Amino acid sequence: MQSNKKRLINAKVTGVGMYVPEKVLDNKYFESIIDTNDEWIRTRTGIRERRMLENGATSDLATKAVEDLIKTSNLDPKEIDCIIVATVTPDMFFPATACLVQNNIGADHAWGYDLSAACSGFLFALQSGASLIEGGSYKKVVVVGADKMSSIVDYTDRNNCILFGDGAAAVLLEPTENMDDGIKDSLLRCDGSGKESLHMLGGGSLNPPTHDTVDNKMHYLFQDGKAVFKVAVKGMADVSVEMMEQNDLKSEDIAFLVPHQANLRIIDATANRMGITRDKVMINIEKYGNTTAATIPLCLVEYYRDGKLKKGDKLILAAFGAGFTWGSMYMVWSMD
Ligand code: UT7
Repeated sequence: MQSNKKRLINAKVTGVGMYVPEKVLDNKYFESIIDTNDEWIRTRTGIRERRMLENGATSDLATKAVEDLIKTSNLDPKEIDCIIVATVTPDMFFPATACLVQNNIGADHAWGYDLSAACSGFLFALQSGASLIEGGSYKKVVVVGADKMSSIVDYTDRNNCILFGDGAAAVLLEPTENMDDGIKDSLLRCDGSGKESLHMLGGGSLNPPTHDTVDNKMHYLFQDGKAVFKVAVKGMADVSVEMMEQNDLKSEDIAFLVPHQANLRIIDATANRMGITRDKVMINIEKYGNTTAATIPLCLVEYYRDGKLKKGDKLILAAFGAGFTWGSMYMVWSMD
């Protein structure tokens, strides 16, 4: 990221919104469909429940999150300049989910696009949105993390189906000339050699859909959990520690670590490496599982609305996902 010494404008979060579908899949439900048990799921992952969208698509999740944002921040959709939707479960290859959201909410003057970075999607999209604001041409950018993971999960694969859920959350970015406020710094990375461990092979230009791709379950998410676990801890912790060092942040300066919610053990290991205690880590994995691009903004919205996240709080956001993609962001919370 461009050093904030050279910037004249920061992007800050001035509104939030979220949506999770009503249907709850608890661990007991999985006991009824696969060979698993509540104790294994809780102790290995930290998850108790996740949500599932029964009717509709990712654009419906995203639209409801943005409608919540619009309502709670008195935003006129016509003022929105750009909508960025981070997702790996777009309604379709094209048009982009962002266009569908734009139409649903009547954002008549907006442009928009989807961003594919899996579980790091929200961080990548937030940096993209921040850059539009920092450039000076855009005043209101909506960044959404939304995924309907139930559409690509194989509910006979016990290694993975227990992990994922559906959800969406959104933030509004606006400019500030106070360089001590808003998004201050980011370190984002990708490494395509990680594609063997976490991917969905079918449906794209490499393996266009055929009867064979369906028979071979290539339209489902595949994850080698153990392999991803190791690199996820190292990836998230390394960039987060680097972020603290390059901003002279001690662990006591940080109000909250906001980690991607993939596994409570990964979250704990990352926090340990940063010297951050559990009480300063945002966690809601027990309720929603891994909602991919939505985990980090869902945490932000819930902690803010619960009164735990306060204006001026220094946050480190951290994510790791398919690609591999990973990164860390330093943000000062702007909302009262
Ligand atoms: O968000 C994107 C990034 N993703 C991640 O960060 C996820 C990273 N990985 C993980 O979170 C963990 O690796 C998992 C939760 C996926 C798995 O936990 P683990 O401690 O790595 O378990 P494991 O894969 O080593 O499996 C241990 C055992 C195996 O049995 P054997 O081979 O030792 O007999 C599995 O077959 O647990 C078994 N197992 C299960 N048992 C009950 C796997 N899934 C289940 C299950 N219920 N659902």
